[in-house]
Amino acid sequence: MIKRARRLRQDAAIRSLARETRLSSDSLILPLFVKEGENIKTPIDAMPEQFQFSADRLGQAIDEGLEAGVKKFLLFGLPEKKDAFGSDAYGENGVVQKALRRLRESYGKEIYLITDICMCEYTDHGHCGILHGDTVNNDETLSYLSLIALSHARAGADMLAPSDMMDGRVLAIRQALDGEGFNDMPIMSYAVKYASAFYGPFRQAADSAPAFGDRRGYQMDFHNVREALKEAGADEAEGADILMVKPALSYLDVILSVRENTNLPLAAYSVSGEYSMIKAAAASGFLDEYRLICESAVSIFRSGADILISYFAKEISEAIRRGDIG
Ligand code: PBG
Repeated sequence: MIKRARRLRQDAAIRSLARETRLSSDSLILPLFVKEGENIKTPIDAMPEQFQFSADRLGQAIDEGLEAGVKKFLLFGLPEKKDAFGSDAYGENGVVQKALRRLRESYGKEIYLITDICMCEYTDHGHCGILHGDTVNNDETLSYLSLIALSHARAGADMLAPSDMMDGRVLAIRQALDGEGFNDMPIMSYAVKYASAFYGPFRQAADSAPAFGDRRGYQMDFHNVREALKEAGADEAEGADILMVKPALSYLDVILSVRENTNLPLAAYSVSGEYSMIKAAAASGFLDEYRLICESAVSIFRSGADILISYFAKEISEAIRRGDIG
């Protein structure tokens, strides 16, 4: 009888030698919430151990990331005031723009800063674009997204991540960037973003729940996977440098399909609800938090993602460091 499988499992050395999925801290991105104001570090109720920071205290979160081996961060802005056009999103003195300049000054190129390009955190109605009546007007929103992208580029972002799901926004942003000489600025596009209940805690963190209706007009129906390939193909054709699938854990099949149909790097966003589920299950004593973090991170890479955006990025990086995964 062949006992090959058992021979390959007999100790840690051969298990790690024969491993099919490798993880690296270089592939991890930690999302951070930056809030207008000073001396703010407000806990987010639905996301234990996650905070809203004002720019002057954001360094604490960055330092903790660096300590754990995470150097890439995704910034979400929480403005002082919101209006119908989300004007704080593209103002030179918007919350993200100021934070970018400040972090650049303190950390130089030691950290890699990606910014969210969307309007829902900045509009008083909470939708991801400009409203005409009760619906988001796709084409009018494109010019606003381009303004946001340009202002982030000028303030020192390393990469831009449009999360709004308007049609044609990658091309619009690419043209706006190239027109101002930002030809080297990469775009990581939320190409495949489902209308998902897993965003609930984020909307509390970013105070961005829509005031009426929902996002199903522009985000995807979770019954569909061929549609994901259409969305990914469109964003690739428009010039996206990295594609993203979001959420991650309930969408591993989608990650696999997109992986098999593109040669671009592929990111997966393990969203707020995935974080909160693990935290809640662990707090109840029902499940082991550390092992859940490890197993879910590995499963996302195993399904084909090259990059993982996760609120657990520090914990995952430490687990890699310890040799528990990767
Ligand atoms: C903005 C945006 C959202 C998330 C990232 N960018 C919320 C949404 O689409 O409602 C969710 C991230 C998370 O849940 O962690 N459009």
